[in-house]
Amino acid sequence: MSDSLAFNKYAGALLATGFVIALLVNASGMVFGDDKVAKPGFKVEVAEDTGGGAAVADVPPDWGTVLPKADAAAGLAVFAKCQSCHSLTANGTGPNLMGVEGRHPATEAGFNYSDGMKAFGAKQPVWDYDHLYMFLKGPQAYVAGTKMTFVGLKQPADRINLIAYLRTQGGTLPIPAPNPAAAAAAAAPAGAAPAAGAAPAAPGAAAPASAAKPGDKPAAATTAAAPPAGATTAPK
Ligand code: HEC
Repeated sequence: MSDSLAFNKYAGALLATGFVIALLVNASGMVFGDDKVAKPGFKVEVAEDTGGGAAVADVPPDWGTVLPKADAAAGLAVFAKCQSCHSLTANGTGPNLMGVEGRHPATEAGFNYSDGMKAFGAKQPVWDYDHLYMFLKGPQAYVAGTKMTFVGLKQPADRINLIAYLRTQGGTLPIPAPNPAAAAAAAAPAGAAPAAGAAPAAPGAAAPASAAKPGDKPAAATTAAAPPAGATTAPK
């Protein structure tokens, strides 16, 4: 008798426990289930954050240091991403990019620029290395209202190599003299600061070999003429 009574007690306790557990599972399902539905965009946000090195400030490098070492052939490969809209011979969806480095923004003859790009050209007289570097990172973030619907090149190395390549395509800007202090500052976040003392002995490319195109640019562009070979430039 007492045995079956005890059995009933235990069985009842088990049933009650199971019931409570079922209730809890249900209740938590209601709470957390709603939560999941409330954030459908969460994954997308994470995906957009994957541009490499997001934590490092992305400032233009010291061009006198990086351009002589840049890989123009790799830049040509990056240029493939531009060619659906740009060529180096004529206007297409985008303006002809022959000679764009050193050109006044929004001035390629026969191209119908957006108001945003025209406004940019009104305050920025030349596509120099710094402005191209920032523009190509995120065109629409940098030039408000541009109709260049290109997502941008997240990797600094891609932009540097591309700029080195475009320089070989009618570019009229000289490579400035290396500025080791600026180079060290720009490279600092990456952790690998080049030895500032060791002048990289630019292979003669430092001097503006190309006489600026007549009529294109006043002599101002040549003021940064560097001393010839690896002379360590003492700051004046
Ligand atoms: C989807 C098409 C498209 C792609 C891809 C594209 N561009 Fe453009 N680009 C344009 C358009 C359109 C303009 C004109 C922008 C305006 O008027 O607002 C433009 C303008 C420019 C300008 C300004 C030129 C000037 O005369 O002021 C530069 C520089 C440029 N693009 C470089 C590039 C480079 C480099 C790439 C590749 C990394 C690239 N673009 C990829 C469509 C594109």
